[in-house]
Amino acid sequence: MAELPEKLDKSGEMEMLAQAFAAFSEASAKLEQKYSIIEEEAKKLREEVEEKNLQLSKLSSLLESVLNNSNSCVLAADDSGVILVKNPVAECFITELGTDAFTSMLNMHRESGVFDHEEDGRTFRISVGRLENLEQKGYVYVIDDVTHIKQLETERQRDEKLVLMGEMAANIAHEIRNPLGSIELFASLLERDLKNDESGTKLTRSIVKGVRTINSIISNILLFTKEIKLEPQNRFVADIVDDVVLYLQHLMKEKNIRFINRINEEHVVRCDTELCKQVVMNIVHNAIEAVPEGGMIVIESFSEPERSGFTVTDNGSGISESMRKKLFIPFQTTKAKGTGLGLAIVYKILKAHSGQISVESDGATHTKFIVEFPV
Ligand SMILES: Nc1ncnc2c1ncn2[C@@H]1O[C@H](COP(=O)(O)OP(=O)(O)OP(=O)(O)O)[C@@H](O)[C@H]1O
Ligand SMILES: [Mg+2]
Repeated sequence: MAELPEKLDKSGEMEMLAQAFAAFSEASAKLEQKYSIIEEEAKKLREEVEEKNLQLSKLSSLLESVLNNSNSCVLAADDSGVILVKNPVAECFITELGTDAFTSMLNMHRESGVFDHEEDGRTFRISVGRLENLEQKGYVYVIDDVTHIKQLETERQRDEKLVLMGEMAANIAHEIRNPLGSIELFASLLERDLKNDESGTKLTRSIVKGVRTINSIISNILLFTKEIKLEPQNRFVADIVDDVVLYLQHLMKEKNIRFINRINEEHVVRCDTELCKQVVMNIVHNAIEAVPEGGMIVIESFSEPERSGFTVTDNGSGISESMRKKLFIPFQTTKAKGTGLGLAIVYKILKAHSGQISVESDGATHTKFIVEFPV
């Protein structure tokens, strides 16, 4: 076999090497290209993961702040009653009610729905929802203290009842009035026929007295329930007081009461005359009932640029602080035979005049009512 010349042999090797090197370079360039694509994709994926993580942490901090800033108690408990998560309001409730009471409250409500729960004199509105995910099963609770709302609801219902009662009372009062008038008339006629029979006259007088008492209660109920229509005039306080005193003087005499009238003859109030008389009458009547035998009642007037009116002071039993708070609410009385409407009517009349009534008392020895009308 003929031998290749040494020169040719070497150049062939060189060429093969060059080819191999070229192939290697090409492969390496391709590899580099692939690598940079992969690197690019990895970078994108990394960015996406970072973005998702950011969104997740934003969402979780939003949820956390929603939970923490909620005014309601929010918590989740698993099926065995273990609390999984709770917000600060829930912690407050647990501290206030005690762990045992709180846990037993949750355990009593293990179905979806809304429940009102009474605990410790408070009302809690509990909204329960089922919690079910891969890891946990239990309930989500949203709890609110609705004691105040419940009270308002009760008050509204009571007001509605009062209005209905008022309407009913007004109807009944009307119906009673007519036969009552006849009873009074017949008793007066009987009294006249029995004028020589002392014990008979005494009985008929009692009937008339009883009828008048019922009549005045009925008048009060009617006055309280009916709408007030004012016919305001400028009137001397002295005239109004004199009329009322005339009507009440026999009661004052019976109790030997010293009535001191310090009304200034020139003082005027702008009011509906009959209603203003009713105001004076109720206040002075209460004073008469409050003072002891031989007690004292003082009535004084005042007249200022923006208001005028009068004060009634007595040295009676005084009004306790708890009674003072509810004095003008209907049917509040400490008297066996009182209806508790007198001052409620006074209040209503003064409100209709845009006037005011206030009371000062030490709760034991004296009481002063201050009545003022706008000028
Ligand atoms: N001058 C007073 N001194 C002490 N207590 C008073 C006085 N005025 C009112 N009160 C108290 O306020 C309550 C309410 O008075 P109000 O006139 O509204 O009703 P009443 O007098 O009890 O009954 P009514 O006037 O309907 O017959 C009284 O029961 C009494 O306890
Ligand atoms: Mg009274």
